[in-house]
Amino acid sequence: MRVLHVGATGVIGKAVAEALGSRHEVVRVGNTRGDYQVDIASKDSIERLYQAVGSFDAVIATAGSARFGDIGKLSDDDFRSSLANKLMGQINLVRCGVAHIRDGGSFTLTSGLFGREPASGTAALSLVNAALEGFVRAAALDMPRGTRINVVAPPWVAETLAAMGRDPSRGMPAARVALAYVQSLEGTRNGAVFDARVFA
Ligand SMILES: NC(=O)c1ccc[n+]([C@@H]2O[C@H](COP(=O)([O-])OP(=O)(O)OC[C@H]3O[C@@H](n4cnc5c(N)ncnc54)[C@H](OP(=O)(O)O)[C@@H]3O)[C@@H](O)[C@H]2O)c1
Repeated sequence: MRVLHVGATGVIGKAVAEALGSRHEVVRVGNTRGDYQVDIASKDSIERLYQAVGSFDAVIATAGSARFGDIGKLSDDDFRSSLANKLMGQINLVRCGVAHIRDGGSFTLTSGLFGREPASGTAALSLVNAALEGFVRAAALDMPRGTRINVVAPPWVAETLAAMGRDPSRGMPAARVALAYVQSLEGTRNGAVFDARVFA
């Protein structure tokens, strides 16, 4: 399959590319790196990406940021940015991409466990993750031409915790998180929320 992978240059993205191996042709898309660049917060940028890359069988998105912060400290801009980037960025990858994806293709988005297992300081992030999962469950019912859509919910990634100076043993190695993306791409599920811990 020809896979358009947005976020391929990130921590989870690199592990997904490794897990896909040579079974698929992966087009690596980043914000500043990769074969192509896109800003998912801009619908125009997404449209330009789809025009540039040609046809493909699948989109994997391991991109999108949302802001951490105590509910009393999160600003309007924190909410606006979280919704525009991680939430609408991925939703617009799907809305714009359905016109370009081949019959029977798939979209795999990324949420996060905070959507269902929140912690203090994650109100904006939990909002975005839960919304993504709701979007995927419902959008799956409308997907045209045999196309599918799923979302992967990773827990804390060990490499990310290490980079933050925190205990990596409290997270899951990116290579194990990547297995859920492979399952979404190569399997037949539609409308599924893949808890990455189940596939590890
Ligand atoms: N890491 C974790 O512990 C963890 C846990 C749960 C959920 N998640 C979610 O998993 C996703 C990936 O996380 P990660 O840790 O792998 O992130 P990361 O290492 O920071 O990588 C982010 C990736 O997204 C790209 N990117 C950044 N801003 C973008 C934009 N505006 N438009 C398009 N692409 C953009 C980056 O491209 P460049 O390299 O070119 O900048 C890079 O490929 C995020 O949605 C995150 O919320 C992560």
